[in-house]
Amino acid sequence: MQSEHQNRMSYDRGSNARSAEVSSLSSFEPGAIWRDDNGVHINAHGGGVLFHEGVYYWFGEHKIEGVDGNRAQVGVHVYSSTDLYNWTDRGISLAVSGDPDSEIAKGCIIERPKVVYNSKTAKFVMWFHLEFKGKGYGSARAGIAMADKPVGPYMFLRSIRANAGHWPLNVTADQMEPGLIARTKEEKDQFVGGPSSKHSQYNILGAHFEEGQMVRDMTIFVDDDGKAYHIYASEHNSTLQISLLTDDYLDCTGKYVRVFPLCWMEAPAVCKRSGRYYLIASGCTGWAPNAARLAVAESIFGPWMEIGNPCIGINPGNNLGPEKTFGAQSTFILKVQGFDDAFIALFDIWSPHDAIDGRYVWLPVEFCGEGMRIKWMDKWGLSVFSAKAGGNA
Ligand code: DGJ
Repeated sequence: MQSEHQNRMSYDRGSNARSAEVSSLSSFEPGAIWRDDNGVHINAHGGGVLFHEGVYYWFGEHKIEGVDGNRAQVGVHVYSSTDLYNWTDRGISLAVSGDPDSEIAKGCIIERPKVVYNSKTAKFVMWFHLEFKGKGYGSARAGIAMADKPVGPYMFLRSIRANAGHWPLNVTADQMEPGLIARTKEEKDQFVGGPSSKHSQYNILGAHFEEGQMVRDMTIFVDDDGKAYHIYASEHNSTLQISLLTDDYLDCTGKYVRVFPLCWMEAPAVCKRSGRYYLIASGCTGWAPNAARLAVAESIFGPWMEIGNPCIGINPGNNLGPEKTFGAQSTFILKVQGFDDAFIALFDIWSPHDAIDGRYVWLPVEFCGEGMRIKWMDKWGLSVFSAKAGGNA
């Protein structure tokens, strides 16, 4: 059976053909082609959503066809919406550079861009995972860009390794011991990015103390008090780190913690509800899906407690259920405006052989007991929230 979204136009990926007639959407259809105002499948993968002055802005990786689409050929795409169903193409917010010497040269890797608004500076700040061109995933840096308007254009400021010269707040004496640090440096970062027993025998944290901690999959979370945090997969993906940003959101402060040491989590997405922090993440299996992981904490710096997989149900499009997160991977948790208690969990179904064909899975979050449930739904609308939260959006 074809979905409503698919009925609107058969999707021509070859030419990215535009639909003559663009009708308005009134539901989410996880996993289906999701067309923008031009009738083109939305191109904002690994994304995040900013709400500013009544408008949602969806930022994500612009992908092209084929395997080349896994590297940044264009930049970060932005769309805007007032209802979350219908998105207007606002173009490329951060463009890759034609200068081969630029840190964001065309062909680099730009992943998981997240934009936040800084009310002190009145600037929009974008953070993203950056890998220099031709270096695979070895650079492991965070890119930082800034704009005066939500859609941009964003000016690339610089890239960093995180918290160079600073030990985490929860460092232990043995982690500062020079012997193992020296031995780890001799390994010259020959560590894989997925579960392996090798990492526990070395001190990757200490080996990166001077140049700064690795940043791969990441998100930015702004707390109620306006403080912003960078949450990123570090230490060759073995450990997450959570770092406080400076008041202008343009740098890290040196105040950070290691969380889930040697637990291999990536694709972090964070929200706060009733004073409690929730983190959804995945395991580390490259583009292939694995089981989602949920953790909760009373403080952003922890302690965090992992409490299982929040997903329920089966995606009939690929017959994948919770053990593979419906074939998808977490990227963001979106707070829906106009309700007390409404959040949407955003996931990507990656298509690494034809990157532009990646799909989006947006599902409502249902809070229960200690944690949350994310149930598969073929088709749903924001009215699911009103029954629970008495909302009015
Ligand atoms: C999984 C990550 O979540 C993605 O953002 C991307 O880095 C892929 N790995 C690359 O294999």
